[in-house]
Amino acid sequence: MTTRRELLKLGLYGSTAMLHLTGLKLDTWALSENKSPKVDPRVTPFQVDLPVPAFKTTVSPATLPGVPLFNDGIPTDYVSFNVQQTLAQILPGKKTLVWGYDGQVPGPSFQARLGRRLVARQQNSLPVNINVHHHGGHTQAASDGSALPEEEIEPGTFRDYIYDNDDDTGGFHWYHDHTLDQTGINVFMGLAGVYILTSDTIDALNLPKGAFDVPLVVQDRAFDANNQLAYNPFDHNGFIGNVFLVNGAVQPKFRVGNGKYRFRILNGSNARFYQISLSTGRPFQIIGSDGGLLKAPIEADQFRIAPGERVEFVVDFSFHTPGPNTHVFLNNTMIQKEGRGPDGVDPTQPFPLMRFDVLDTVTDISTVPPVLETNIPVFNPKESVITRTFEFNRSQGAWQVNGKFFDPTRVDATVKLNTTEIWRLRNGGGGWYHPVHIHRNEFQILDRNGIAPTGAESGLKDVFVLNPGDEIRVISKYTGEKQLGRYVFHCHNIEHEDMRMMGLWEVVK
Ligand code: C2O
Ligand code: CU
Ligand code: CU
Repeated sequence: MTTRRELLKLGLYGSTAMLHLTGLKLDTWALSENKSPKVDPRVTPFQVDLPVPAFKTTVSPATLPGVPLFNDGIPTDYVSFNVQQTLAQILPGKKTLVWGYDGQVPGPSFQARLGRRLVARQQNSLPVNINVHHHGGHTQAASDGSALPEEEIEPGTFRDYIYDNDDDTGGFHWYHDHTLDQTGINVFMGLAGVYILTSDTIDALNLPKGAFDVPLVVQDRAFDANNQLAYNPFDHNGFIGNVFLVNGAVQPKFRVGNGKYRFRILNGSNARFYQISLSTGRPFQIIGSDGGLLKAPIEADQFRIAPGERVEFVVDFSFHTPGPNTHVFLNNTMIQKEGRGPDGVDPTQPFPLMRFDVLDTVTDISTVPPVLETNIPVFNPKESVITRTFEFNRSQGAWQVNGKFFDPTRVDATVKLNTTEIWRLRNGGGGWYHPVHIHRNEFQILDRNGIAPTGAESGLKDVFVLNPGDEIRVISKYTGEKQLGRYVFHCHNIEHEDMRMMGLWEVVK
């Protein structure tokens, strides 16, 4: 098999390189099928129960030959994944070939604690290169999974990722593939999972816990006539599917009690935006954003969530009388026909992503405290040493930042350790939406088109949606000696990212 580096030397990247690497034949992909905005006719909603991915259990480092060991007094846990293909029952009838961490889609959930190091071995048993990114983490460059070719895990080999968990706050992160030019197909095939970073302080908050704390990974997919995942590597605008999965199941049902639930929703779709609301129209409490809990809960009856974003919210089902006919739907009212971006919210066309069946009578002692996270860092614009401008633009049917395609050998910004910077992110036009993501840090949005952020955007963020015409200023401080090194930032419409809407930046002493 040709390696990634050899292909780069030949100047092959994007879809062409992907086809070379995977050996997939173009005619195995249903090229026209993922264009349809309508719902796949093979789907009957609410047939399967919502799968909740299990937490990954730790292993002894003695079982992992060659794994790094530490004697710096920081408690360290070890986990080990086998990244492999498997057959999953997604549609009725024929099973679907998927790629999953431990063969599961989504993968097992990380359960990490602030101040405890976590080492994850990722063994690649797939026929393609992979690269595992911890999205949302304050991660060392060597373990970040930043789409750099030298970081890739070739088939039959493994890599050990070190997660320091020395972030400012806990949070609802995720992990997913980040292989240069191939992230779209790799994530589409199933390489994504949840990473929950908590602490004693967060656990003491009396928010809904255990079975009442549920991640919801929302993704759209398309299937060919053979029930196989159909991805069009030549559609650079962004993949839009017509089958909706929550935690890997098609429009599932979830049995709940008449109490409060903490839902952590991740938009793990390649390019689709959602507008989330409940069929009852009832408000809920938004308690978290990309980078952890908010200062205080915010009452809302809907929110938008773009690819890569996370929103945590608490729903109270106690307004409902438990019974076999008590259903609440989690609706999407965002219309989106193509990768360019959402076409707008239409409340008259709610689409149920899943159904809550309120069946059980429970005693709910949880609360949503008026004060949630007290440790949110405040970045001071007066301390900013530089304001950088990055414009996200279209060129030659592909995607650029400041007029340049991503080059993994070119550093686009050099940041000095322990300084504060303001980054101005600007939409380059054409009616396109770009959910821009920056690695390594959490950020505060200073303003969007001159206006201070509201809602979940007022919390810590690592994905910033550039609507058409938008200009956003974000601020962060680049601390952490261990986090010196190279990282990327990019559009999280993964097809845009794969077609090079990405930049490289480096933290130096
Ligand atoms: Cu979620 Cu660079 O990615
Ligand atoms: Cu990331
Ligand atoms: Cu984009």
